[in-house]
Amino acid sequence: MRISMIGTGYVGLVSGTCFSEFGVDVTCVDKDARKIDRLNNGEIPIFEPGLDALVASNVAAGRLSFTTDLSEAVAASDAVFIAVGTPSRRGDGHADLSYVYAAAREIARAMTGYTVVVTKSTVPVGTGREVARIIREERPDADFDVVSNPEFLREGSAIQDFMRPDRVVIGTSSPRAQEVMRQLYRVLYLIETPILFTELETSELIKYAANTFLATKITFINEIADLCEKVGANVHDVARGIGLDNRIGRKFLHAGPGYGGSCFPKDTLALVKTAQEEGAPLRIVETVVDINAKRKKAMATRVLDACDGSLEGKTVAVLGLTFKPNTDDMRDSPSLDIVPALVEAGATVRAFDPEGMDEARGLLPDITYCDDAYDAMTGADVVVLLTEWNEFRALNLERAKALLKAPVMVDLRNVYTPADMVAAGFRYTSIGRPTPDPSEG
Ligand code: UDX
Repeated sequence: MRISMIGTGYVGLVSGTCFSEFGVDVTCVDKDARKIDRLNNGEIPIFEPGLDALVASNVAAGRLSFTTDLSEAVAASDAVFIAVGTPSRRGDGHADLSYVYAAAREIARAMTGYTVVVTKSTVPVGTGREVARIIREERPDADFDVVSNPEFLREGSAIQDFMRPDRVVIGTSSPRAQEVMRQLYRVLYLIETPILFTELETSELIKYAANTFLATKITFINEIADLCEKVGANVHDVARGIGLDNRIGRKFLHAGPGYGGSCFPKDTLALVKTAQEEGAPLRIVETVVDINAKRKKAMATRVLDACDGSLEGKTVAVLGLTFKPNTDDMRDSPSLDIVPALVEAGATVRAFDPEGMDEARGLLPDITYCDDAYDAMTGADVVVLLTEWNEFRALNLERAKALLKAPVMVDLRNVYTPADMVAAGFRYTSIGRPTPDPSEG
């Protein structure tokens, strides 16, 4: 089997590389010649654990290549995956499909023989039909089927998610296209991965419904965390107590500063828009979007409270800027709301992130970027733990205390145990968990 992957962003690069690992011949295509040059020189433009080694071994094996020449790649392919960006359109929150449709036109002009055109990008319901219409318009003689095959990759564990998925969803009613997709995912049949064949529209909706459900689950536990704080309950134990019920499940019940990233904010908003336009509004999701946006903004208040109501002239150490660990991605990260609010309140911010600082510099220009967590904490009045990178999980607390002006920590990811922090002499607040009173210890 031979495929082309159009777009070497996060999804395209990971999916293309993983298909080549499955034994498929893959050509990754991008218009950005510099990016293709870098990839051909073995440089990986994104941070994703394990990806560089996997790219290198498959390139060496001759199964993976990179090019700017879409026509040549598509002409030789049994299937062409569209994995270009679908950013939120400014103003109306809809997914911007111009890149998808432009790719469809180019693919149409280049295809030879029967070709399966697969949408891998997250696209609103109905996009697959429109892609088919565009291809037919461009090339009335073309022999093709359009398939929806959404990705469920999490940044930081994308390779594992591709290689050992909970399920694969394939939207097409064409037996011929189904057979091509079956061949591509042949390896997964060996590990008995459920492969779900649906109609095109159903598959498109599954992707949005999955992400929206997860975003709702997070938002639910975040609100329960707020309630825990009022009534003196512990959200960690509440999450465990409900999550052990298999009907609820334990995952995605970790309270925090609000969800961010390249998918949840964009997909929840796009689904809200689609549902409103179709006259079947998703009121739960509308509320989730609203709560999450407000939550991210409100997090700075917690830092203010920890500093007795004023940040004027104070220094805040911020540990972690990316929207989650093991990525360099800053898209819709809670830090983009929290850090400017701290600066606005008069604070000087000293930040450190293991991978995100290059990207952060352009987005958060008014802060000092530090060499490591301890450098960030030097002379600070308070430390805010914003992203749960492993290296922040085992800080040397004695060293931290010696560097900080005052031993105050606001832990927005519940990384530390309140009792331990109090015992270590910290004034400590976290999300939805009571902190023991040191005078009662
Ligand atoms: C998500 C989906 O998980 C994936 O299936 C889809 O393909 C793309 O979007 P990703 O954005 O990489 O993946 O990250 P994920 O691990 O899902 O986290 C998203 C956000 O939710 C992060 O900001 C994270 O910190 C937050 N989160 C997650 C919580 O606050 N609590 C949780 O319990 C889980």
